[in-house]
Amino acid sequence: MPRRTHGRLSAALLGLALLTGSTALAISVTTATPAHALDDGLARTPPMGFNDWNSFGCNVDEKLITDTADYFVSSGLKDAGYTYVNIDDCWAAHDRDPQTGRLVPNPQTFPHGIKWVADHIHKQGLKLGIYTSAGTQTCAKTMPGALDHEDVDAQTFADWGVDYLKYDNCNNQDRPALERYTKMRDALKKTGRPIVFSLCEWGQNKPWEWGKDVGHLWRTTGDISDSWTSLLTIFKQNVSLAPYAGPGHWNDPDMLEVGNGGMTAREYRSHFSLWSIMAAPLLIGTDLRKATPETLSILENRDVIAVDQDPLGIQATVLSGDNGHWVLAKPLKNGDVAVTLFNETDTTATFGTTASALGLPKRPAYVLRDLWAHKDAETAGAVSGVVPPHGTVMYRVRRDSRAWAFQPPAAAFGLDLPSAVTGIPGTITPAGRTVTADVTTTNLGRAPMLNARPSLDLPTGWKAQPVGRTGAAILRTGATLKSRWRVTPPASESPGARSLTARLSYGLPGTRLSLTEDLVVPKPVPGGTTDLGADDWATARNGYGPVEHNMSNGGAKPGDGKPLTINGTVYAKGLGTHAPAEIVYYLNGRCSSLTADVGVDDERDPRTVAGQSTVTFEIWADGTKVADSGLRTWQDGAVHLSGGLTGASYLRILTTIGGDTNSYDRGDWAIPVLTCGS
Ligand code: GLA
Repeated sequence: MPRRTHGRLSAALLGLALLTGSTALAISVTTATPAHALDDGLARTPPMGFNDWNSFGCNVDEKLITDTADYFVSSGLKDAGYTYVNIDDCWAAHDRDPQTGRLVPNPQTFPHGIKWVADHIHKQGLKLGIYTSAGTQTCAKTMPGALDHEDVDAQTFADWGVDYLKYDNCNNQDRPALERYTKMRDALKKTGRPIVFSLCEWGQNKPWEWGKDVGHLWRTTGDISDSWTSLLTIFKQNVSLAPYAGPGHWNDPDMLEVGNGGMTAREYRSHFSLWSIMAAPLLIGTDLRKATPETLSILENRDVIAVDQDPLGIQATVLSGDNGHWVLAKPLKNGDVAVTLFNETDTTATFGTTASALGLPKRPAYVLRDLWAHKDAETAGAVSGVVPPHGTVMYRVRRDSRAWAFQPPAAAFGLDLPSAVTGIPGTITPAGRTVTADVTTTNLGRAPMLNARPSLDLPTGWKAQPVGRTGAAILRTGATLKSRWRVTPPASESPGARSLTARLSYGLPGTRLSLTEDLVVPKPVPGGTTDLGADDWATARNGYGPVEHNMSNGGAKPGDGKPLTINGTVYAKGLGTHAPAEIVYYLNGRCSSLTADVGVDDERDPRTVAGQSTVTFEIWADGTKVADSGLRTWQDGAVHLSGGLTGASYLRILTTIGGDTNSYDRGDWAIPVLTCGS
């Protein structure tokens, strides 16, 4: 692994000393191997815990925090390694105590004070985190920041029993980040209490280059949101910073969104896998009191957590990332290697690496543990998988040279519903229409795979017709069995979610694997001339928060928009999207046109400048683009779009990011009128 050289480190420290004029740093600068100011034994593995911000924003109170701590214990999350229960912004009163200059907990939301909360949490064997900003106020501006109050605030936190401080960057008066964060580091140190110090300056001043000597972790990016686009953007920014992470000093790609509803379970599994292989802090950001079993099964995946928490503390590096097929590898303390195969694209793909490319010694075979299926098998060397769209296959490849002989051969096993209409996911399965289901089985093992039998579990009343052979008596190393079925839902099937499970059994005694795809039976759009609504879409994806009906996109939560407004004109009806957005409707060949007035919504940051908030609007009839607005900016009025849909099975409307970032890309589809036969 490339590590920082002492030369670079010394230069960073020298810069730090020059900026701060700090005497504490003088020793570091003059020694050949500088002592790390923060080599204090804290955060030797990435911090794990909870933070309220992603799901509660400013609605934090002491009950939420103590309930979460109690839940950590009762649910087993504490046993799985989650330790820090962290309070984010908005916990303090607007003003400091006039006598002492200390921060005062908000008397409405934290009536018992922070020490009481800390005591409760410590009794559970957990730790408490708190938040403030290296500025005059915090980001939400409801409470004072710690700029020029570092000593008193650090001492207050220590007196209360705080174990972790997230230190934000808002309202910083343009003072240098290094100076502001170093002052708090020193103030915390002076208290004598071990406090994990989390730098949250959003990667603006390349904290990975100096953060190791100042804090235990540093945000590398802007804020995450509960969307696939945000996840991808942040992953790509953080993944290249691997050389800077290590025990006691971590890259922080922001808190988890797992469970918040803006992504699919598969996308959340990718989120958790990627954060873990990147040795990121695992701070749960969902309301645990309402977490589903599926959410908990992700957050409690101990095989994956063990990768994140591996004591060697190496952040994975990218072995390949061509065409959105990412292979990441992380060496582990015991000589094993963790591998993540992440498919960023919208189509199923088979890819991977090999044991020799991972640097493992040459052996006849290796034990491969699938960290989501929790199963061991042996591979002759291929570390590959059939990875569904937005999905992740995660393995741990064992170094142990003998154990493989006791394992069944590993299968790269996949279920794919190829798209029948360009651009329309094959998982949209209209009533009465036959779709194709492909099941692939490749023997990765050294031993032959005997009696490989794939099968499908169908929703009630559905039919499946095999095309060609579906089983194999023997599959040798590297051989692939491709099985295909034609699957038909009944013509009377009601709209809604369904699932299709592919199963594989092989060997004696039988090894069993299964994979499930989520299907959508779409509701056909209504007949006649109607407003394009929210109830009728088959699928909707949005760049930020959900697509809104009859209001602008607003924020991350449903229903939090404003009236749809394009350059001062307000519209009562329409869809509020945020690029990149894609909404699919099932027309079943019955419709003739869609018209709409489209434009960038006026809801944006007042500091938005020309060049930001740019989108295009497109209407697609099956695989054909039938209308395109061209580039629209926040300065433009609405433009009228009209697209012909005659004969099309599907309508797809897109709001694209217009070539720049998706910052403030709120695109309105105002008065969208769909004309269909009866
Ligand atoms: C900033 C941080 C977030 C959160 C909010 C609170 O945006 O980056 O993580 O702490 O402030 O206001």
